[in-house]
Amino acid sequence: MRRPRQIAARRLGRTLAVAAALLVVAGAAWLGYGLRLDARLLRSDPEAIPGEPALLRAGAARGAGVFAAHCATCHGADGHGDRGLGVPDLTDADWLYGPGRVADIEKVAAHGVRAHDPRSWNLAMMPAYGTPIPSASERVPSLAPGEIAAVADYILALGGHPADPASVRRGGEIYSKAGCYDCHTADAKGDPAIGAPNLVDRVWLYGDGGRAAAIYSIAHGRAGMCPAWSGRLSPLELREVSLYVYALSHATTPHKVR
Ligand code: HEC
Ligand code: HEC
Repeated sequence: MRRPRQIAARRLGRTLAVAAALLVVAGAAWLGYGLRLDARLLRSDPEAIPGEPALLRAGAARGAGVFAAHCATCHGADGHGDRGLGVPDLTDADWLYGPGRVADIEKVAAHGVRAHDPRSWNLAMMPAYGTPIPSASERVPSLAPGEIAAVADYILALGGHPADPASVRRGGEIYSKAGCYDCHTADAKGDPAIGAPNLVDRVWLYGDGGRAAAIYSIAHGRAGMCPAWSGRLSPLELREVSLYVYALSHATTPHKVR
């Protein structure tokens, strides 16, 4: 005859064994899910992922940690950027490089802007028109302070801000003479194929959108830099952080992934 204590010990042993087996099965399922998700994120065409909201959400959720660790120092914890430093807002629909598809975001994240990477964006540099040689690569003339103020008035007027009409007329001539259209296009709406910002949309990369900030950009030039991450983040992490940035600016799900 077995004693009650022995029976209780056996029962406990069996229960523990069943619990351990369940844990192993759940762990394997979880691991399997994680590996399947890795593979789906990596193998999918990046443009197809937004069409699969559950996949986008899962990838973006993982990318939040990558963003907090590597991007938030400049782009801000909430992705709103810093106009004092010329760091763009990643939560709006305004893009410097391309139309804001996952692949455009991933290209910047991997290779950067004006970074030490041969595939980095580096097609245009804002000249410093207030200096004797405004640009090392473009043949553009120096501008006198009055000319810089006039061309600033011209773009502000195009953007719907009040400005002195005589100065705006003069600024229009300078816009042509100084070759601004070469990068920012004739209507000053910018060129996302080279990262030249739209000057008339009231979204400013640098400063508060006032006359002084525009004059400063034109006189001193600008050369914003985003680091290249391809050597430091894995292809999977790059995909995840790009999906996170995509989700910040595209309300594809009932609630924005934040
Ligand atoms: C060779 C190409 C090039 C030319 C020519 C050029 N720009 Fe730019 N400009 C840029 C680029 C690129 C930027 C963005 C700089 C950055 O990303 O740091 C910029 C930025 C600016 C900004 C800041 C915009 C913002 O959102 O804060 C202003 C203002 C501006 N340019 C005005 C002008 C004017 C006016 C002229 C002509 C007098 C001119 N640019 C000529 C390439 C150019
Ligand atoms: C050292 C500061 C810094 C860090 C860190 C940084 N960025 Fe940037 N990023 C910038 C600046 C500045 C620009 C604008 C470059 C220019 O002027 O053209 C930019 C531009 C971008 C753009 C282009 C936005 C557009 O409008 O087209 C994307 C996308 C981007 N960053 C993503 C990232 C991601 C993802 C990370 C983290 C993996 C990251 N950045 C880390 C400074 C930074």
